Amino acid sequence: MAEYVVEFGKDGRPIEPDGRLDAPAFHRNHQPIWAVLQRFLAGRSGDVLEAGSGTGQHVVQFARQSPDITWWPSDFNEQHLKSINAWRAHAQLANVRPPQRIDLSDPAWWRDMQDGPINLLAVFCANVIHVAPWRVAEGLFAGAGDALRADGRLFLYGPFKRDGKHTALSNAVFDTSLREGNPEWAVRDILDLERLASSAGLALQEAVDMPANNLILVFGRSAGAMSA
Ligand SMILES: C[S@@+](CC[C@H](N)C(=O)[O-])C[C@H]1O[C@@H](n2cnc3c(N)ncnc32)[C@H](O)[C@@H]1O
Repeated sequence: MAEYVVEFGKDGRPIEPDGRLDAPAFHRNHQPIWAVLQRFLAGRSGDVLEAGSGTGQHVVQFARQSPDITWWPSDFNEQHLKSINAWRAHAQLANVRPPQRIDLSDPAWWRDMQDGPINLLAVFCANVIHVAPWRVAEGLFAGAGDALRADGRLFLYGPFKRDGKHTALSNAVFDTSLREGNPEWAVRDILDLERLASSAGLALQEAVDMPANNLILVFGRSAGAMSA
């Protein structure tokens, strides 16, 4: 499945000999992302899965700021799993679980979490569904619908279209380059994601504008939906 993966460290040069990879975007975006996540997470405890953790930098950074929350990084790319493990070992935080090998295109991905079953407080997924086939978005939502607890949230960070239109020229250019690189990749439309959410018993609660024409979409349980 390597052709479906945006692979950090593809040039074979981890930033550190222990395998820690560095994503330049992490340094730009972790603070604004945390500002949104912590509005929900502050004062709560529980388990948060990061879906498609990549290098593992986000999960370590966020775990450091939320000692009452247990963070579960995940990915399905071997080199990324190694990098996540290396960042985890480097950070020495008690509230970061070992990286989970999870393929989000499997709608029952949560069954692959070791030491489960768990009712998740949140699922956080950054910059994944536009660099993956549509079935990854389908699996992400289906699994979140099963794995989130009653008050749980799914946070999706990235570029998105609204009503079929790009929110900025730069996103349109980015979308074209994505599709040229892989016809199964694309900037996704919020309406299509709301449809997936609806079939998983979830609904869009908030769309938060982020720097560089990105958004965080926040999904929670639809009124009357069954909850874990
Ligand atoms: C662009 S990177 C984003 C990484 C990280 N979330 C960030 O924002 O820096 C996309 C990540 O999604 C992962 N990914 C792609 N398809 C996946 C799948 N089917 N299941 C799990 N992870 C997947 C890739 O391995 C990669 O780590």
